[in-house]
Amino acid sequence: GQIEKGGYDHFMLKEIFEQPECLTNCMRGRINVEANHVTLSALIDYRLQLLKAKRIVIVACGTSWHAGLIGKQLIESFCRIPCEVEYASEFRYRNPVVTSDDVVIAISQSGETADTLAAIQLAKEKGAFIYGICNAIGSSIPRATDTGTYIHVGPEIGVASTKAFTGQVTVLTMFALALADAKGTINRDEYLKVVKELNRVPEIIKEVLKSNEKVRDLARTFTYAHNFLYLGRGYSYPVALEGALKLKEISYIHAEGYPAAEMKHGPIALIDSDMPVVVIATHNAMYEKVLSNIQEIKARQGRVIALVSKGDNTISRIADEVIELPDVLECLEPLVATIPLQLLAYHVAVCKGKNVDQPRNLAKSVTVE
Ligand code: G6P
Repeated sequence: GQIEKGGYDHFMLKEIFEQPECLTNCMRGRINVEANHVTLSALIDYRLQLLKAKRIVIVACGTSWHAGLIGKQLIESFCRIPCEVEYASEFRYRNPVVTSDDVVIAISQSGETADTLAAIQLAKEKGAFIYGICNAIGSSIPRATDTGTYIHVGPEIGVASTKAFTGQVTVLTMFALALADAKGTINRDEYLKVVKELNRVPEIIKEVLKSNEKVRDLARTFTYAHNFLYLGRGYSYPVALEGALKLKEISYIHAEGYPAAEMKHGPIALIDSDMPVVVIATHNAMYEKVLSNIQEIKARQGRVIALVSKGDNTISRIADEVIELPDVLECLEPLVATIPLQLLAYHVAVCKGKNVDQPRNLAKSVTVE
């Protein structure tokens, strides 16, 4: 009951607010602040197996798959190893090319997802080395892997995954940094800068959580909608997918995440004055391009909810609603930009009177096909 929810109305809200503490736990003993250094025991114990990877294949389902998409960008950019992200359910049934030169990363909150477990078994038979990123300690997936890293965010009760997602992304960031450091593929200054800022992420998320009331108020305005579009580029594209999934799962509003530049190849046809479009439009390399996407949406009377960098007054003048985010390195932005999207989905679902913690037709862990 109420006590387990720590005074929050729902587990989901509690779990959203727990994220600063959860990510601190996730990084504890792994990031040495004085030395500005990341160590994962998997990378010490299985250094050779992980260092010799010619390719990395990430397998996962649902929200964990979205974390995998962010992991791919981190791994490719820091470690310069080609990385693919597969839905476990597709991977296991298409006779994939996997060899002993591959490292397969399996991501799963519950550690019990049947498709992910089967994908691991298949990859193992083909000789790949298997590294797991899980939350539930001692569950089936960690037992089936060669090594792994627990995200240590504590039990997640809400069916819609929140803190497990940011925990997975945090572990993937530490993994990419530690592997890149071992391989010598990351520039020293860059490494130190990212480690230092990763360590500050819990504080940054605390700051972002202060926008809860603002997000709650704006959520009321959008409960009428039957469709939502979420746009982002680069590291923010998987965040758009995850934001859309959260809304679908608990408010039953149809939502699609799209890479912003792909809007012109289809979704733009849907935009009219009834269509809310959530755009991740913070200051980064793609800012000008995303700004022009927002102009295109407004020219078609779409309603823009923009996530912007603090102090942005260009987009605030065009967008219908803005949520400000503190500045953070681009590669760490998913950890920050996800927070208001979790809150948005939560408040829209509450306004619609939906069962936030136990949405219809969904299960916390899918142990059958
Ligand atoms: C279910 C849950 C999702 C989760 C997915 C994968 O669909 O409702 O929240 O992302 O399974 O679960 P896993 O435990 O493997 O991360």
